[in-house]
Amino acid sequence: MAILSIDQGTTGTTCMIYDRTGSVLARAYRELTQHYPQAGWVEHDPEEIWRTVVECVAEVRGAYSGHIEAIGITNQRETTVVWDRRSGQPVHRAIVWQCRRTAKLCNRYRSEEAAIRAKTGLPVDAYFSATKIRWILDAHPEIDPSNLLFGTIDTWLIWKLTGGEVHATDLTNASRTLLFDIHERRWSPELCELFGVPLSMLPEARPSMGGFGSVRTIPALDGVLIAGVAGDQQAALFGQCCFAPGSVKNTYGTGCFMVMNTGEKFVSSSHGLLTTLALDGAGRSCYAVEGSVFIGGAVMQWLRDGLQLIGSAAESETIARSVESNGGVYLVPAFVGLGAPHWNMEARGTITGLTRGSSRAHIVRAALESIAFQSHDVFRAMVADIGIQPQSLTVDGGAVSNEFLMQLQADLLGVPVHRPRNIESTALGAACLAGLEAGVWGSAAELRVLNSVERVFTPAMPEGEREALLAGWQKALRQTLTS
Ligand code: G3P
Repeated sequence: MAILSIDQGTTGTTCMIYDRTGSVLARAYRELTQHYPQAGWVEHDPEEIWRTVVECVAEVRGAYSGHIEAIGITNQRETTVVWDRRSGQPVHRAIVWQCRRTAKLCNRYRSEEAAIRAKTGLPVDAYFSATKIRWILDAHPEIDPSNLLFGTIDTWLIWKLTGGEVHATDLTNASRTLLFDIHERRWSPELCELFGVPLSMLPEARPSMGGFGSVRTIPALDGVLIAGVAGDQQAALFGQCCFAPGSVKNTYGTGCFMVMNTGEKFVSSSHGLLTTLALDGAGRSCYAVEGSVFIGGAVMQWLRDGLQLIGSAAESETIARSVESNGGVYLVPAFVGLGAPHWNMEARGTITGLTRGSSRAHIVRAALESIAFQSHDVFRAMVADIGIQPQSLTVDGGAVSNEFLMQLQADLLGVPVHRPRNIESTALGAACLAGLEAGVWGSAAELRVLNSVERVFTPAMPEGEREALLAGWQKALRQTLTS
């Protein structure tokens, strides 16, 4: 009884095979090329995305050739692919969620922002898919839009896996497009009209648990049903078993995404969070509030590839610990603007507090600290919106193996941080959805045992030190937002 999970993230693609105890039978990973054609622009090659999936599947099937019950797909959300329905060829590189090219275009819709937010739960921002689709259509006036299809990465992969038989997305991914009415759970003809996106381009929006077609194009998975699909943050929430209203998780991936399940309640944030669709314990759609931080683990990638200050992300912990403090250095990684709770598309990265004594270690430490500071700000916004302080924060994603970061996170929040045994909750969540649908697990209760807490980080920082750190961060943020 094995489930195959495809986690197509911003930085790369992971493929996992789980058994029914949640143990990993096989794992493969391929990094993805990031294209930066202009400052603030980010693109992926959809064909390369597909190739990484094919390669990862081949590797895990080489390691485990037994029967696969079903497939779960989870993905970087909002990233926009537009392709020709006849040839299956993308007409443009995928415009990645982080890409800021449509920041100005968004201003066209400011006067409608309140109505858009009421329907979609989202602010008007270049982050979401609608203006990205508009941009691609404007860039290719020679193509008749009735020949084009749009998809987020889940849709693109479903299309490729089923050999073009199925053009569908799930409700959680649809809720990130700015075109989806999250009350009615359907595409909004009014929003499509407003953004100039033909309804004919849009995929069918289906519940996250259920059939999305069977694989036709990869022999090692031929005929296997795609039985669960969810955006990566909603999949992580599910994989962390945050089924109950009020339960919250933070995923430290390329960005940081804190999501709180609010059940049947559509919470309209007054503190810069967004409202989105997530999943309850039965895999049905429910509401959640989310704080999306655009640059999380990606700041480590920048230290490695951009500045070449570190050889690997893992090294950052030792380097950060080699100095006693940040030495007054703060780094605000607003490389692609700032997301929650600021929503400032024009902001750009800043390093403040440099002195002649500042070293590489101070900058590395400041970069790591920026991940915890940004998550702190989102947590505070969530508490202010909901009016209740969660008793703990559950965490997942690659960067949670950094114990310096986890301890700082607990210190800044003042609540314990729970790290699970399986830190890849996103992939696990997609497997759980597919496995529930395929009958590998009978109920959500069975999922709880799959991922126990491995370590709890308890707040230990003296209050004065915490306040001083947060004051330094706030000052650096102000400088970033006003420059
Ligand atoms: O909204 C963007 C998000 O889904 C990307 O997630 O894991 O690739 O940072 P990740």
